[in-house]
Amino acid sequence: MHGYEQAQQAREYIQAHLAASAPSPAPVGLILGSGLSGLTERIDVRAAIPYVEIPHWPTASVTGHAGRLALANIAGTSLIVLAGRVHLYEGLRAAEVAFPVRVLAGLGVQQLIVTNAAGAIREDWSPGHLALISDHINLQGDSPLAGAHEERWGPRFPDMADAYSPGLREAARQAAQAAGIGIVEGVYAAVKGPNYETPAEIRYLKSIGADLVGMSTVPEVIAARQMGLEVLGISVISNLAAGLGDTGLHHDEVLAVGGSATERLADLIRGTLPAMAGRR
Ligand code: HPA
Repeated sequence: MHGYEQAQQAREYIQAHLAASAPSPAPVGLILGSGLSGLTERIDVRAAIPYVEIPHWPTASVTGHAGRLALANIAGTSLIVLAGRVHLYEGLRAAEVAFPVRVLAGLGVQQLIVTNAAGAIREDWSPGHLALISDHINLQGDSPLAGAHEERWGPRFPDMADAYSPGLREAARQAAQAAGIGIVEGVYAAVKGPNYETPAEIRYLKSIGADLVGMSTVPEVIAARQMGLEVLGISVISNLAAGLGDTGLHHDEVLAVGGSATERLADLIRGTLPAMAGRR
């Protein structure tokens, strides 16, 4: 079970362990996707807790997901960083995948930055580029809100228009421009995985309006929006989607591209945080 009481227990454990380093709640959460956990080496980490120690926390099994919760400071803002996440393809339900976001909200997080590695469905985009997520298409066949309704988390039928905050996207665009970081923007289609798509599936995703494809993010964003968190989504383009590039797709390459993009991702986040503060 990953319900309200379990989220309370996880929150209490984290609060007790971070009490010395975190006198006041961190207003921003940051989820690091595949190959991006190295970002924690570029920021000021004050304390960390391995996921395995936190009650009820779903743990990751895939290479590239370090699996710890860190309290960090970037550009004067206190953040809770989740280095590593779980996915539906690990056999979990969307409600379990979204559980960490429930806990972050309980800890006082008001704004969530979600990152991931994604395949580009547009031929003019290249591996290594950063993309702001403008919207998503949920093809995972599950929602974190499916099942019994927990009204303490928010509405049963939350609105998903502007799920990816237009204001935060504008702030990120300005930060990217100021830092000289090239950035694109598009719609993220979430599939279950873990296999990569067929070329026919990619042609289908293109025809329904997707620009990016990945296996994560959507459960967390649905839960975040139900609880009223403001969301910024950033994809690191790790590859051209199936059938668009010359080579096959390999998880190792996805991780490697992510690793090489972490510096720009850290710069983008650092540049965006001051404008985020003005919106809280
Ligand atoms: N497809 C699905 N998920 C992904 C991809 C992809 O091409 N690249 C990184 N995550």
